[in-house]
Amino acid sequence: MSRAPAPVVGGRPVAPFDPHRVRAEFPILSRRVRRGRPLVYLDNAATTQKPLAVIEALDRHWRTSNANVHRGVHLLSQESTTAMEAARGHVARFLGAADPREVVFVRGTTEAVNLVAHAWGRANLRPGDEILLTTMEHHSNIVPWQLVAAQTGAVVRAAPILDDGSLDREGFRRLLSPRTRLVGVAHVSNALGTVNPVRELAQEAHAVGALVLVDGAQAVSHLRVDVRALGVDFYAFSGHKVFGPTGIGALWGRKALLDAMPPWQGGGDMIRTVSFSGSTWADVPARFEAGTPAIAEAIGLGAAVEWLGGLPADAVAAHEADLLEHGTRLLEGVPGLRLVGTAPGKVSVLSFVLEGVHPHDVGTLLDLEGVAVRTGHHCAQPVMDRFGLPATARASLALYNVREDLDALVAALHKVRETFPL
Ligand code: ALA
Repeated sequence: MSRAPAPVVGGRPVAPFDPHRVRAEFPILSRRVRRGRPLVYLDNAATTQKPLAVIEALDRHWRTSNANVHRGVHLLSQESTTAMEAARGHVARFLGAADPREVVFVRGTTEAVNLVAHAWGRANLRPGDEILLTTMEHHSNIVPWQLVAAQTGAVVRAAPILDDGSLDREGFRRLLSPRTRLVGVAHVSNALGTVNPVRELAQEAHAVGALVLVDGAQAVSHLRVDVRALGVDFYAFSGHKVFGPTGIGALWGRKALLDAMPPWQGGGDMIRTVSFSGSTWADVPARFEAGTPAIAEAIGLGAAVEWLGGLPADAVAAHEADLLEHGTRLLEGVPGLRLVGTAPGKVSVLSFVLEGVHPHDVGTLLDLEGVAVRTGHHCAQPVMDRFGLPATARASLALYNVREDLDALVAALHKVRETFPL
């Protein structure tokens, strides 16, 4: 098997990263699929696979410590609570947060955006206020704002994107005004791989008095995130896209903002007192965690970010950059293939269309060769509209992918091309 070149970052070699060794920590990656072919998993933007560290953390919790949290005086409840709160600390460190109390456990990015839209938005938005998004947002960072806009009289606007899939910075500035109360932006586009200049956008947004919410779902497994260095107000991500379980994610918010926000869901654990004459609310983050949380999943998420944090980040980034470059070069050699999203500095997503073949057929034919990609609008219909496409096929990479995965993708695409000649 060929190896990626030894990584050199800023002119100096960095700690080695061996993706083949890391693959051995992911049992599913040695599975065989269609007609006995080895699995080539290139659907990481939809969900990532799980390392043993996460699988074992879940297993250990369920075998030894399962109990409800924040409620029991008994040993198992104390162990569960301690493990879940330790996971909150791991997530806080992973994001560069000042205080674990700024981390709210949620079901995922979608719930995090809904939380901000409903808790902050309903309390603060007035008719004529504007929420500025970008055309490359996932539906999860569009629809919650439309729902809240309909209730408050606020207006949702979308900054345009350029032909290569980068944000149109001039277009963004034109739409930003003192009416803008919140800017919502993907750190990385799930359909295009574009990395948005979040720090600069946050500075521009703050200059007009707007808050900034970042959808980090596609960023956290590829970029080092430091919410304080980014200077944003809210940052959301999903556990399952960062090698953790489904059903868990985190919303980070600046403490003063979270403290000032009312709850959006009522139930157990989010109250201080309840009576029929009125109830009072717990401090954050409990105020936003109504009901029994996804305890094991939170612990699994903590294990995932700890596992990721133990890898040499620079070498991982160099490996992923090598994969992207290798894949791009090979894909450009497939007759009639057009990449959608070629922004400079993009990460890990190779969206494409193949002339004369519907993306769904491409996906089905690739699956027959054992290659898993996603096809469709990727929950980003405005992106598809922008490029005049109903859908794309999308290969999305993770750190455990190797050049051979991309070789297999492109060999399968050449076969598709033979079946559907130009
Ligand atoms: N948001 C996920 C994706 O891009 C599901 O595939």
